[in-house]
Amino acid sequence: MPVPAISLENVSKAYAPDKPPAVRDVSLELMPGEVLALVGGSGSGKTTTLKMINRLIEPTAGTIRVQGEDVTAIDPVLLRRSIGYAFQGVGLFPHLTVGANVAITPQLLGWSAERISQRIDELLTLVDLPPETYRDRLPRELSGGQQQRVGFARALAAEPRAILMDEPFGALDPITRDTVQTEFRQLQQSLAVSVVIVTHDMTEAVLLADRIAVMHEGELRQLGTPRELLRQPADDYVAQLIETPRRHSDFIESLMKNSASGGSQ
Ligand SMILES: Nc1ncnc2c1ncn2[C@@H]1O[C@H](COP(=O)(O)OP(=O)(O)OP(=O)(O)O)[C@@H](O)[C@H]1O
Ligand SMILES: [Mg+2]
Repeated sequence: MPVPAISLENVSKAYAPDKPPAVRDVSLELMPGEVLALVGGSGSGKTTTLKMINRLIEPTAGTIRVQGEDVTAIDPVLLRRSIGYAFQGVGLFPHLTVGANVAITPQLLGWSAERISQRIDELLTLVDLPPETYRDRLPRELSGGQQQRVGFARALAAEPRAILMDEPFGALDPITRDTVQTEFRQLQQSLAVSVVIVTHDMTEAVLLADRIAVMHEGELRQLGTPRELLRQPADDYVAQLIETPRRHSDFIESLMKNSASGGSQ
């Protein structure tokens, strides 16, 4: 068995001793090259779980390992440089150009100017923003989807083996979102980077993830492939959640059938 890229062992987080824990006894493993979606309703503990991985939040119990190493033994600043992250609301620096935004972590790591410059061009090309056009623009001179792609390029800048993404596609219109999702999957596969992606959208999880972790009220209810969740949901909550994408596609299919037969009723 390869060493997991990230593992959580009985991890809990209580923000206050008199409140129920926001995350309770969660254990999971992210294998190298895998995309794991953390799915669940608002307040179910997704962001808390994600932020504990790179120590933006410290757990109250349990052990988190990155490449087999206990994260409490790693300097949090170094840890955050080694795992790329793109969080909703943590946008690009508005006063820095696209290139400078992507360069932040490589600069902190002391890469040479030439290596950084090459990396910027390589990544912007990868996310389909030709460097000659976009490198020197400011974030406000980009569309929302383009900004999101720069955020993704920035998360990948220092060649991390794992990245954490919190609702990265949430703010996009449906068509841009579809394009960016497709690009994300292609990029992720070509780089073989391991990803934990938080989303409340089960359809997105089914489309993007190898395995889905369903959280509810701070607990991990089920972890499995989309197929496993569909075939054997652990409880009613999971069953309801995983049924949503299927209901949507069934509905659209029935609409298509109706219009194909020419009937409007
Ligand atoms: N800094 C904090 N102090 C106290 N409670 C917090 C803090 N951050 C989050 N919580 C609480 O912990 C629980 C889980 O929050 P979390 O942000 O992890 O949820 P989430 O699943 O990411 O939700 P959403 O989908 O709305 O982003 C919530 O009840 C929230 O109110
Ligand atoms: Mg959240």
